[in-house]
Amino acid sequence: MPHRPYIVGNWKMNGTRAMLTEARAIDRAAARHPGVQVALAPPFTLVHAVAEETQAVGTGGQDCHTAAKGAHTGDVSAAMLADAGADFVIVGHSERRRDHGETDTLVQAKAEAALAGGLGVIVCVGETLAERDAGKAEAVVTMQVKASLPKLDEGAKANPARMAVAYEPVWAIGTGRVAAVEDVVAMHGAIRATLLSLYGESGAAVRILYGGSVNAENARDLLAADGVGGALVGGASLNAESFLAIVAAAASEA
Ligand code: 13P
Repeated sequence: MPHRPYIVGNWKMNGTRAMLTEARAIDRAAARHPGVQVALAPPFTLVHAVAEETQAVGTGGQDCHTAAKGAHTGDVSAAMLADAGADFVIVGHSERRRDHGETDTLVQAKAEAALAGGLGVIVCVGETLAERDAGKAEAVVTMQVKASLPKLDEGAKANPARMAVAYEPVWAIGTGRVAAVEDVVAMHGAIRATLLSLYGESGAAVRILYGGSVNAENARDLLAADGVGGALVGGASLNAESFLAIVAAAASEA
């Protein structure tokens, strides 16, 4: 693996302050795996507390607005996340694309706002089952990468190592269905080629993560696969023990 594996827990709309116990346990264990970059993206309400109570793990938001501030009731800006202690933000998750009608154009503007606000950014892409069955998975994901990642001027200004793409096939999220390792390898290869065409050589420094029903059992095979730079973990990140088993699998691959 060319980069330090990056294992990110996306807590989605889960977690009250009681979950800080899990965050602290994850933090203690992450400190013992310096070869792995570990991060948590709790709901907005816990970003500050997770950032305050952890040292070895990064803290991120799960979305940000395109603007730095203003009349946008219910939204949170990248600058606000940074002020709360976040160092990155996830944008374009398929659940936001589905629940909030987010388009590639909007996701791109959010990703650019994240970089401008001093945050790292994880941009999510992934095909639906219908698109995969129709043989369109690579075309769909390639298009999403081109249209959702920061434009060259913004991306070039940022350190490309602050950017990551998470390949999350929609049909693998929360379903227990994992993409076949050979399909993950093929897709990560297509994403890397697209990144190189977008950013030139610096496209090599953008991490590509896999997400979709990653757990303690399948993590080792997925993380050992060619071109997989880490994992974006949903359900299995809600519990320190199952998340740390994935971190341990990454450590053995590092
Ligand atoms: P699950 O790991 O629960 O399938 O969720 C994946 C995901 O959407 C991470 O962002």
